[in-house]
Amino acid sequence: MNQAGITDPAPRSLLFLALDLVDGTQRRTVDRMLADWSRAIEPATRGKPDAPELTGLDTTGLTMTIGVGPGLPGRLGLTAPKELAPIPPFPGDRLRPTLCGGDLAVQICSNDPLVSLQAAQVLTRLSQGVLTIRWRLPGFTQPGPSTPRNAFGFKDGTGNPRTAADISDAVWISEGPWRHGTFLVVRRITMDVQRFATLPAQRQEAVIGSRRDTGAPLTGHAEFDEVDLFAKNADGTYVLPVDAHNRRAHARFDGGRQMVRRGFTYTSGNDETGLLFLAFMKDPGLFTRVQTRLVEQDALNGFIQHIGSAVFLMLPGTGDGAVLRLPG
Ligand code: HEM
Repeated sequence: MNQAGITDPAPRSLLFLALDLVDGTQRRTVDRMLADWSRAIEPATRGKPDAPELTGLDTTGLTMTIGVGPGLPGRLGLTAPKELAPIPPFPGDRLRPTLCGGDLAVQICSNDPLVSLQAAQVLTRLSQGVLTIRWRLPGFTQPGPSTPRNAFGFKDGTGNPRTAADISDAVWISEGPWRHGTFLVVRRITMDVQRFATLPAQRQEAVIGSRRDTGAPLTGHAEFDEVDLFAKNADGTYVLPVDAHNRRAHARFDGGRQMVRRGFTYTSGNDETGLLFLAFMKDPGLFTRVQTRLVEQDALNGFIQHIGSAVFLMLPGTGDGAVLRLPG
């Protein structure tokens, strides 16, 4: 069994919570709290909420997805894969410590921002004395069937794996106590929407590597046409520019290994707009390799800044009605 909220299409609203464990908390306390969370939220995910905070709300489509940060296994005596380690720093990062890390992550998704907020209130009530909020961020996306657009106005998610087999292969850990779990890499990335908007459409398309209207790669006609990294113009230059984002990020440079990006747009303060980049993968080393390439060269770099970073090992799921607990 896998947790919901990973490979299913994203609903409209996200509330992401990164939490820290109160010093001295024992593993059994965390397991008890996870059981309380599961019992309180699981009926709501079936559209039958019974927590008082959710009274009268349509909770259909609600998911709560939980993972642990790199600091937790050592403190609770869990065995976790060695890949659970902080994401290394990259040149050009502008990370703010208060927007990074966390011992535990909860990704709450739903069709209604109020449902997400109230679900978070339930979790906060049930974790008093065990967890404190380190950072949190609401976001939104456009629910299917089309690929959602990001704040630059481009379809974002086209290059994700598409068949059930490819998706499973990209995300799920296949052995050990964390089998059916996955890694989540989180980056809070600000986007200079105003400056990007001043570029002529053709220049914007060259930055991303796809068409603004259809989402088709510059080397194709329809959204899901394969990206052709080798196609050339008559003058010998590549049709997909050497610094186009979807060339630099392309899976071909990683032997075809893919991640499932499930990002949400957010706004914060008076002038911050960005992408809460959420990507699931069975080895966070893939993120590090892709990001290393993007930092080296990516036409997007002039328009974005990474200000937050975290990695979590998402728990394996349990069957309907069973409570979540820490494996390992
Ligand atoms: C605000 C920052 C970002 C924006 C606006 C953005 C936007 C996009 C867009 C519009 C596409 C083309 C459509 C698609 O295939 O989804 C794309 C592709 C992609 N992006 Fe990003 N992206 C951002 C950051 C990142 C980061 C940090 C990574 C990973 C390190 C990443 C990895 C990818 C991958 C793997 C693809 C698909 C490439 C392929 O076709 O194989 N992106 N991105």
